[in-house]
Amino acid sequence: MKISVAQGSIQDSKDDTIIVNLFEGVTVPAGATGAVDQALGGAISELIANGDLTGKSGTVSVFYPREKLAAKRVLVVGLGKSEAFNLENVRKAAATGIKQARELNAVNVATIVHGAGIAGLPVDEAAQATIEGSVLGLYQYQAEKIKPNSKHKIESLTIVEFDPAKLSLIESGVRVGESIADGVTLARDLVNMPPNVATPTKMAKVAEKIANEHQMKITVGDRSWAAERNMGAFLAVAKGAGEPPKFIVLEHNANRDDLDTIVLVGKGITFDTGGISIKPSQNMGLMKSDMGGAAAVLGAMKVVGLLNIPLRVIGITPCTENMPDANAYRPADVIRASNGKTIEIISTDAEGRMVLADGLVYAASYSPRAVIDLATLTGACVVALGKGMAAGLFNTDDALRDKLVAAGKTTHERVWPLPLWDDYLKAIESDVADVKNSGGRMGGVATSAIFLKQFTDYAWAHIDIAGVAFSDKKQGYIHRGGTGFGVRLLIEFLRNW
Ligand code: BES
Ligand code: MN
Ligand code: ZN
Repeated sequence: MKISVAQGSIQDSKDDTIIVNLFEGVTVPAGATGAVDQALGGAISELIANGDLTGKSGTVSVFYPREKLAAKRVLVVGLGKSEAFNLENVRKAAATGIKQARELNAVNVATIVHGAGIAGLPVDEAAQATIEGSVLGLYQYQAEKIKPNSKHKIESLTIVEFDPAKLSLIESGVRVGESIADGVTLARDLVNMPPNVATPTKMAKVAEKIANEHQMKITVGDRSWAAERNMGAFLAVAKGAGEPPKFIVLEHNANRDDLDTIVLVGKGITFDTGGISIKPSQNMGLMKSDMGGAAAVLGAMKVVGLLNIPLRVIGITPCTENMPDANAYRPADVIRASNGKTIEIISTDAEGRMVLADGLVYAASYSPRAVIDLATLTGACVVALGKGMAAGLFNTDDALRDKLVAAGKTTHERVWPLPLWDDYLKAIESDVADVKNSGGRMGGVATSAIFLKQFTDYAWAHIDIAGVAFSDKKQGYIHRGGTGFGVRLLIEFLRNW
């Protein structure tokens, strides 16, 4: 879909479909919706008066202008109540409108920026959110089928703005929104791919493409590369894997020592069977999403490249399957991570923290100002916060926490602080090693975080995305399957650093 910005009155648009909006409780529409209403001879206000059109969030009304306008149809999307209006409502409204346009086989769509009028949101942010909601609302995973079930495709989306003074802000917001949606799409695709396709090798290929397109430095470490660096924890998980493991490192502005360095680490378990501590077969297929953290980091690195973010950003994704195998690591094994610490294996299903341990140790070599890891780490996090609600956040630096919480509010990729008290260490004390890889059922989300802390020595935040990386419901711009959670959060965080 080609996206552009044009100055003008939306009622004069030559596109076949026009999208405007309405707040709940408005009886006489103003601005662009008012102008369209006038051009339609008052059809919109008539429907409001009749009670057929309410402006409630999630609603769309379709008007057929016949010869009154060049457009074939006008869509009025409900924005809900103006008091509680924010960027998330913009994204949802944009998704609702454009999905309806697609249902009606629209080819060329014109829309106004939602929220930049009487709602008074910053116009660039509203434009960005309008594009994010539109592009992500139309997202569809291209499944490999003989007969593709692809929906009708909209060819163009034009943002129309009457006020020339707002155009340049809208243009920059649109560019940012489009780039971010690109990164989210990549992350969603990787999670949605079957695990025999989104292998560690595939993850490395995707990273290589990002590196080539954006002049990033890339390292793809194989088993022997990891062995040279004493990454015993990563290699333990990879031992039973049939697919070759890849420890992937992307570096944006690799050689710039004048810029702050931020390291992003993503758990890249391309399929988590649990290993010898095998999971029940029911729903095991969902564990193709256990590389959601790595997908978010790769998606974010793509956006970092597209927007050429003025920071030194390092993306680290340790990728491997976790399989039961004659060669697999076992409960009771003692493993040495790359910082020398030994780990007693209690459960081979606590594999995410193993690969992250070596990822976090490796992150220190970049002398980072901050390290953020994203991981589908624990079922306990989902139990604590619920599905699709928020990611769990653990941090060793309060300023970093505040920045991430703020970015989560703006993007609606919410992160919720959870405790990282040293008291949790008791649960992972081992008789035979420095730590155990599982602290048991109680406080499972916190004991996983305190384990990870043993491998950090910098300002650090851990984000447990187990409950938000994969959705079984579709709503607004979220679809069943991979959500791409983390990409928008990380980019908002980096842009405000
Ligand atoms: N990948 C899972 C966690 C997970 C569960 C992600 C549900 C998404 C949805 C992780 O590797 C795992 O198996 N964790 C165990 C840890 C336990 C063995 C200490 C868990 O949560 O049960
Ligand atoms: Mn597991
Ligand atoms: Zn896992």
